[in-house]
Amino acid sequence: MAEMTSVGGTPFTGRALAGRVAMVTGAAGDIGRATAVRLASAGARVVLADLAEGLDATAELCAEANANATPITTNFDVTSEADVQQAFDDLADQGVVADLLFNNAGYQGHFSNVVDYEVDDFRQVLDVNVTGVFLVLRCFARTLINTGRPGAIVNTASMAHGGAPNMAAYSASKAAVIALTKTAAKDLADKSIRVNSISPAFIGPGQMWERQVELQAATPSQYFADDFDEVAAQMIAAVPLRRYGSLDEVAAAAHFLLSDEASYITAFDIEVSGGAV
Ligand SMILES: NC(=O)c1ccc[n+]([C@@H]2O[C@H](COP(=O)([O-])OP(=O)(O)OC[C@H]3O[C@@H](n4cnc5c(N)ncnc54)[C@H](O)[C@@H]3O)[C@@H](O)[C@H]2O)c1
Repeated sequence: MAEMTSVGGTPFTGRALAGRVAMVTGAAGDIGRATAVRLASAGARVVLADLAEGLDATAELCAEANANATPITTNFDVTSEADVQQAFDDLADQGVVADLLFNNAGYQGHFSNVVDYEVDDFRQVLDVNVTGVFLVLRCFARTLINTGRPGAIVNTASMAHGGAPNMAAYSASKAAVIALTKTAAKDLADKSIRVNSISPAFIGPGQMWERQVELQAATPSQYFADDFDEVAAQMIAAVPLRRYGSLDEVAAAAHFLLSDEASYITAFDIEVSGGAV
């Protein structure tokens, strides 16, 4: 096979991540796990973070994918400033500094018409999806800046940023993630830290797909039927590619943005949506 060469003078390194350390939050969940395994396969050492149980399973898959992945697992709540700081301090004590961050932990919230939406849940969604993303991003950036090394961040937003029915808090939180991404990209550009986001639409299989179909069916609206299969069909009909996306397709977008192949891309949101808007 012919070797890839560059015309512009930048050596072509592909998406290899050997020598990089990638932190993945929400790594016990579907998208976090798939992406962690992909980053490990590309050569990265992985730091797997979540509040929930399940990191060991992700760590095992990462180690199978790459014997050098030497996964580190860490349990913390992204909404706690102290816990986030402690997690980064613990890593530093082990001599580990992440230079890639997949900032992905998230909470979908309740499904309800905006007039009935409970304020406590609204606040919790914003706390996890916005404040949590901010706290991890800030701690990651501070730690990396101290080393003087470049890096990259991908935040997980969602196509709900355009305003999904019955999902007031989640939609608002994901629009905020995109705005936060753009500001952070500008603020960190002079430190050579790129910041981008991905916006998945309907992704499956997985608990989030099941949950949103079930809850849209159970929540009255003029947009969806009240039967699981019908709602699933309605959602897929709204996607030009006429299927939901796979976990691997989301992981591929995150991997691309974290890799040096995206070296001139910052402050950008990639829609992983099959054309759905
Ligand atoms: N699956 C989809 O269809 C879809 C579509 C668009 C966006 N997203 C986004 O992708 C991301 C991952 O979603 P997923 O589908 O893998 O869902 P998931 O529920 O499987 O994973 C989310 C993970 O985040 C963790 N988490 C939640 N709150 C936390 C907290 N306070 N501190 C630390 N960890 C916490 C959960 O424990 C869970 O493991 C989320 O940000 C979600 O909003 C998912």
